[in-house]
Amino acid sequence: MSPFTLTRTLPADATAAALRADVAEGLTATPKRLPPKWFYDARGSELFERITELPEYYPTRAEREILADRAAEIAAATGARTLVELGSGSSEKTRHLLRALTGLRCYLPVDVSESALAQAGEALLADHPDLSVRALVADFQAGFALPGDVPGPRLLAFLGGTVGNLLPAERAAFFATASGLLAPGDALLLGTDLVKDEATLVAAYDDAQGVTAEFNKNVLHVINRELGGDLDPAAFDHVALWDADHEWIEMRLRARTDLTAKITALDLVVPFAAGEEMRTEISAKFRKERVQSELAAAGLHTRGWWTDRAGRFALSLSVRA
Ligand code: SAH
Ligand code: AVI
Repeated sequence: MSPFTLTRTLPADATAAALRADVAEGLTATPKRLPPKWFYDARGSELFERITELPEYYPTRAEREILADRAAEIAAATGARTLVELGSGSSEKTRHLLRALTGLRCYLPVDVSESALAQAGEALLADHPDLSVRALVADFQAGFALPGDVPGPRLLAFLGGTVGNLLPAERAAFFATASGLLAPGDALLLGTDLVKDEATLVAAYDDAQGVTAEFNKNVLHVINRELGGDLDPAAFDHVALWDADHEWIEMRLRARTDLTAKITALDLVVPFAAGEEMRTEISAKFRKERVQSELAAAGLHTRGWWTDRAGRFALSLSVRA
């Protein structure tokens, strides 16, 4: 059996403090906003897995197709002995890489969702008896260190298009941090969803079964449970729209009526006007030139670029100079 460890890099009170700060700031801002990382408690992680199976949500299938076709090429180009994956979730697509990286010794999945890491770790154990799986509960935006004893070369994977959930300034900071985790010659494997027609994009974030709406409203459940809130999910509508200027999908929650919510732990009373919208997520869509130039600004030089056959999603492999 392969060794599996799960390490919390932040004490629980630091996570609680971060949630308090984000909610206090976001619910008193104009317009109101919440960061998407708070979707992912155990229920949010499960809802995301259901999203990946929806007919409208193409990114997971498209990225899986690329990984299935290209994992051997990626493995040969990197020769990685350690794979670090940020926002790893279920690690389901990663299995293509784990199989192809024949010299791999260590897999470090990193996620804010402890439940997702624990489930993924269990599932990987059986298939990879020689692999050391060292899961880290960490916020990849908060700056964290990797254990010093993991062997190089390192491959850092950031799949699923999750980089698109970062605002442009956050994304630049993220690329700088990611580059800092790598030694010269190490590589970043990045999944980016691509700009396409509005109807396809909006449908992917506003599915007919309403799973994405439930996922969106899950952030209200998290605030209610963790901070003693009384935000009524039924009092909000799910909104998904395409912002053509920024080239991103925006998810919002729109108040159905005038209402007032209390967040007891923050001693906060939050008024919403009927029709008022609160942003809960952006999901940026990319063009090749933008990905390459943003990576290059962080010292990461693109050596590979692959899309699925329908050209919906891209994986890029960039090397630290
Ligand atoms: N990589 C997987 C999961 C994508 S869902 C896939 O491609 O299917 C996004 C994942 O990122 C979730 O598991 C979520 O818990 C995690 N996540 C979101 N924000 C995070 C943050 N700031 N730090 C660490 N993990 C984060
Ligand atoms: C995790 N991330 C890439 C997803 C996305 O597509 O932006 C989260 C998601 N939001 C709604 N559906 C899926």
